[in-house]
Amino acid sequence: MEVLYTKTAEEGSEKAYQLIREALDNGAKVFGLATGSTPERVYEKLVESDVDFSEAISVNLDEYVGLEGTHEQSYQYFMEQKLFNHKPFKESFVPNGVNEEQAEIERYEAILAKYPIDLQILGIGENGHIAFNEPGTALDSVTHKVELTQSTINANKRNFEKEEDVPRYAYSMGLASIMKAKKIILMAFGENKAQAVKDLVTATKADPAIPSTVLVNHPDVTVIVDKAAATLIK
Ligand code: F6R
Repeated sequence: MEVLYTKTAEEGSEKAYQLIREALDNGAKVFGLATGSTPERVYEKLVESDVDFSEAISVNLDEYVGLEGTHEQSYQYFMEQKLFNHKPFKESFVPNGVNEEQAEIERYEAILAKYPIDLQILGIGENGHIAFNEPGTALDSVTHKVELTQSTINANKRNFEKEEDVPRYAYSMGLASIMKAKKIILMAFGENKAQAVKDLVTATKADPAIPSTVLVNHPDVTVIVDKAAATLIK
C-alpha cells in the first residue's frame, strides 16, 4: 500500500485526477466509481478537462435501497450531475435501488464479471467502511444488501432534509468484489477521517471490524491523504 500525503484536499484531488488520466492513457477501460463528497473535486477536474470516457465503462459502488435513480439523493442522480451528463461513458452502471434484492445482486455480479474493474476509486467512512461495507462485513462478501449503521446515517443525513429521510439500507459491492479491481485509489480528506486513516495505514492484517483493512492484501493500492486526515499518524 502506497500512502501519498498531500497538504490539502485540492492537491490530493489533483493527484487522483492525474492517476485516473494516466490509467486511461495506459489502456484502462473499466472504472469503479464512488459517490460522496470525497471524489467530487476529482469529478469536477475530469469534467473541466478534455478527458474522453466514451470508450470506457463505469461501475459504481453502491446505491440506497428504495430510491429511484431520478431521486435527487440517489447515487445514480449524483453521478449524472457530477460526471456522466458532462463526460458520458460508453456504459455506466449503478446499482438499482428499487430492484428486488436477489435480482439486483445477480444483475450486479453479472456486470462485475463481464466488466472487471481496472481502476477503483474509493472514499472511506469515519467507521472504516468502504463502499457501504460496514464494520463486521465478511471479507469474502460480494454484492449485497446492507443495513446502514447509525454512524453512516449520521454522516449522510447532511444530504437529506431530516434524518428519518436517510434510507436505512443500501446495495453495495462487497469487499471481495472491490478486491478484484486491478488498481485501487482510496482518498481520505478532512479531520473526521483521521481515525479511519490511522486504522487503515497501520493495519497489518485484514480485520472485518475495520472493512478498509481488507486492502492490506491488495497488490496495488494508493491511499491519498490530506494533512487533516493524517493528524493521527504524522
Ligand atoms: C460512496 C461510498 C462511501 C463513501 C464514504 C465517504 O459511494 O462508497 O463509502 O466513500 O462514506 O463518504 P464522503 O466522501 O461523503 O465522506
